[in-house]
Amino acid sequence: MEVVIGQSAEELALYAASMVRDVVRSKDHPVLGLATGSSPLPLYTELIRAHRDEGVSFAHVSAVTLDEYVGLPPDHPQSYHEVIRQEFTRHVDIDDARVFSPDGDPARAMDAGERYEKVLSELGGVDVQILGIGTDGHIAFNEPGSSLQSRTRIKTLTDQTRSDNARFFGSLDEVPIHALTQGLDTILDARRVVLMATGQAKAQAIAAMVEGPMSASCPASVLQWHPHVTVCVDEAAASLLEHAGYYRTSFERKPSWQKW
Ligand code: F6R
Repeated sequence: MEVVIGQSAEELALYAASMVRDVVRSKDHPVLGLATGSSPLPLYTELIRAHRDEGVSFAHVSAVTLDEYVGLPPDHPQSYHEVIRQEFTRHVDIDDARVFSPDGDPARAMDAGERYEKVLSELGGVDVQILGIGTDGHIAFNEPGSSLQSRTRIKTLTDQTRSDNARFFGSLDEVPIHALTQGLDTILDARRVVLMATGQAKAQAIAAMVEGPMSASCPASVLQWHPHVTVCVDEAAASLLEHAGYYRTSFERKPSWQKW
C-alpha cells in the first residue's frame, strides 16, 4: 500500500485526481469505480474543475458505482445512482447511459448481484476504484464479518450504518434495510484502488486497514492483498498509524502509479 498523508482534503484530492486523470488520458475506454459518501467529494470537485477549466473529457469513460440500496428507484434522490449523478457525472461529459449501478429493484434483487458482476466483466473490469472507509472498517457495504472472498450480493445493513445514513433521509424508518454491494473480492479485481479518508473518526479504521492483520473484523484490511492501493489520508486520519513517519515521505515521492 502506498500511504499518502496530506495536509488537507483538497491536497489529497489533487493527488488522487492526478491518478484518475492519468487513467482517463491513457486508456481508450477507461472504467472508473465510483464511491458515494463524503470522502470522495473533494476529488469529484477537482475532476469537475479539470473538466470545466482544462477541458479534461470523460466522453469515452464508463463508470460503475460500488453499491445501491434495495427498494429505491434509480431516480430517488438518495439512490446511489442518482447521488453519483448529482455529485459528479452530470457535471462532466460522461454519457449517462455509461454509468452503471446494481439494480436495486426488489422484484429483481435476487439475481442482481450476479447480473452486476456480468456488467463489470463485460466492461473489462474497473481501471481505478475510488473508495471511502467506514469508522468500523467497512468498504462499500461490506460490514465487519463479510467474507474476504465475497462478490456482489445483497447485504442487510447494520443498525449503525442505517443510523449513520439516516441524515440523508427524512427519518431512520426511511433508510432501506438492504443494499446490493460489490463484494470484497469484486473490489480486489479493480486494477488500481484509491481510498480517501479524513478526520479523527477514521483513524482507528485506517490503522486497522493498513497495519492490522488481514481480517473480516476490518473488511478494508483485505486491500493489503491488492498490489496497487493508494491510501490518501490527512494527519487526523493517519494519527494512529504506527509507521506514519515512514509513510509521510511517500507524498514527496514521484507518485507510484507513474511507475506501474
Ligand atoms: C459509499 C460506500 C461507503 C462509504 C463509507 C464512508 O459508496 O460504499 O462504504 O465509502 O461509508 O462514508 P463517508 O465517506 O461518508 O465517511
